[in-house]
Amino acid sequence: MAISIRQTHPVFVGEVSGIDISKPLSPDEVGAIEAGMDRYAVLVFHDQKITDEQQMAFSRNFGNLEDARGGNITKPEEKRLQIGMNDVSNLGRDGEPLPRESRVRLFNLGNMLWHSDSSFRAIPAKYSLLSARVVNPVGGNTEFADMRAAYDTLDAGTKAQIADLICEHSLMYSRGSLGMLDYSDEERAMFRPVRQSLVRTHPVSGRKSLYLSSHAGAIIGMPTPEACILLRDLNEHATQPKFVYAHTWRPSDLVMWDNRQVMHRVRRYDESQPRDMRRTTVAGDAPTTTQVPAA
Ligand SMILES: [Fe+2]
Repeated sequence: MAISIRQTHPVFVGEVSGIDISKPLSPDEVGAIEAGMDRYAVLVFHDQKITDEQQMAFSRNFGNLEDARGGNITKPEEKRLQIGMNDVSNLGRDGEPLPRESRVRLFNLGNMLWHSDSSFRAIPAKYSLLSARVVNPVGGNTEFADMRAAYDTLDAGTKAQIADLICEHSLMYSRGSLGMLDYSDEERAMFRPVRQSLVRTHPVSGRKSLYLSSHAGAIIGMPTPEACILLRDLNEHATQPKFVYAHTWRPSDLVMWDNRQVMHRVRRYDESQPRDMRRTTVAGDAPTTTQVPAA
C-alpha cells in the first residue's frame, strides 16, 4: 500500500490515500506526510477509525503534543477527555450537548471565528489534527483559508506596509468580539496577550504567509481603531472564496492542517445534536517574534 496525495482545491489541500494511521508509520510515510503538509498545508484522510491513543501516537510522529493548559475555560473536573486530547465537541462529561447558557459552550463558539490554533501562545501550534467521531447532522463544516495565497495576492504597497508589523494575540480579543468581556483575575492572567509577527516565512518552503487570527486585536505602535481596520481588511482579503476550502465531515475523517499556513473556522450546526470532534495539537518550536517579559 503506497501513500499518495491528490490536490483537491485550486491553491491547497491534499487528499491522502494508501495509509492506515492507526498503525505505526514507517519513516518514509512520515516523510511523505510532512512533505505533503509543507506543500498542501491541509491534508484529508478518510476512513480512519481511531482511538484517542492512536490519534496521539500518529500526531507524535510530527513533534511533541502541545500542553493544552491556558487555552480554554473548562475546569479540570469538567473535562471529558484525557490530557493530550483537545475536546472540540459540544458535549459535557455526561455525553450530552452542553446547555445553551453554558459558559464553556459560549466560549467555544469562538471557534466559529477565523483563527489559527494557539496563536494566543508565545510559541504557537504547528499542526492540528481533528478526528470526526460523531458528525453533526446539520452544518458543522470546517473551512480553511490559505494564508500563503492570501499573502501572495496582496499589492506591493500593502506587503511593504505590513512587512515588520507585530500583533498582539489573546483569547480575550476573539471572545471580546463576541461580547464575552467578563473574566476572573486568574483567567485574565492566563489570557495575557502575546506578540506575533503579522508575516511569517515557512521554515521549509520559504513561502511567506499572513499570520492572521481572530485572537489578534492590536498592532504594536498603531492606534487601536487603525489596527482593527487594517486587520479586518486583511482578514476580508484572506478569506475570499477562492482561497477557502470547506470540509464536509464524514465519520472517521481526520483532517490535519498547518497553523503556520492556514486559518480555519467551524460553521454553525445543530447544537441539540452531538458533534464529537477530537483534536490533537503538535507544538511549534519557536516564537514568531520577541516577547515582552511579564511585568
Ligand atoms: Fe481551531
